[in-house]
Amino acid sequence: MRTKIVAGNWKMNLNRDQSLQLVTDISAEIQNYNLNGKRVMVFPPFINVGYVMDSGNRNYQIEVGAQNLHQAESGAYTGEISASMLTNIGVNTVILGHSERREYFHETDELLKEKVDTALKNGLEVVFCFGEKLDERHSGNHFTVVETQLKKALFHLSSANWEKIILAYEPVWAIGTGMTATPDQAQEMHAFIRKIIANHYSENMANKVSILYGGSVKPDNAAEIFGKPDVDGGLIGGASLKSADFAAIIKAM
Ligand code: 13P
Repeated sequence: MRTKIVAGNWKMNLNRDQSLQLVTDISAEIQNYNLNGKRVMVFPPFINVGYVMDSGNRNYQIEVGAQNLHQAESGAYTGEISASMLTNIGVNTVILGHSERREYFHETDELLKEKVDTALKNGLEVVFCFGEKLDERHSGNHFTVVETQLKKALFHLSSANWEKIILAYEPVWAIGTGMTATPDQAQEMHAFIRKIIANHYSENMANKVSILYGGSVKPDNAAEIFGKPDVDGGLIGGASLKSADFAAIIKAM
C-alpha cells in the first residue's frame, strides 16, 4: 500500500554500542510524534539488526530491516545471510539492489531478480533500489537505464507481489556527494516510473506503489523533495546516522 516512508540505510557504519545509542536517540527525538500511518525504518548492518530490534529503548514505531540477503535458501555460501535467518529474528523488510552492491559486489539485474524472488517467497517486503550514473544522465539515457533496471528485476512479478515492493530511486551521482537531485528532477523520474508501471500493469497498481527518493537527503532539503506528488519519502544514508538530522527528516515527511 502506498505510504509515506523515511528509511535510514546505515550501510557499514556503527558498532553495536553506537547502533543501540542511535536507535535510543532517534526514539527519544520522535517520542511525542505521532506517525499517523507513516513509516520509519532503519537498516543496520546484519550483525546489529537483532540488537537494534530487541533494544528495550527502541520506539516501536521504528521498524528494523536488513541491507541484503543471499538468493539461495541455505547452503555452502560462507559469509552470507539467508532470507529465513532474517524472518526468524523478526525482520520484515530487506533492501535489495543498492548501487553500492551493484558497483562493488557486481550484483546484476539478473541476480537481483533472483534475490527479489527469494525475499518475496519468504514473505519479506523489499526496498528495491535503482538509479542511473552521472554519465548516463549526461548522455540523456537515465530514463532508459531506470526502465531497464525495473523491467529486468521486477516486471515478472504479479500485481499481488507488488504489494510487498517499495521502490527507491537513488541516482548514483547523488549518493554521498551532497549533490542532491532537484525536487523537479526527482518528481520527473518518479512520475516516469509510475507511468511505466501503469503501462505494464495498471494505473491503479502504479498509484499504490511507494516510491522513495535517495541521494543526499538532508534536513534542509527533505521537505521540498517530499512535497512532490510522486515522491513518497526517502532512503537516507549519511543523515540517518545523526539522530537530530534523521528526526528532522522524519518530521519533514
Ligand atoms: P546519502 O544520503 O548518504 O547520499 O546516501 C543515500 C543512500 O545511498 C541511501 O541508501
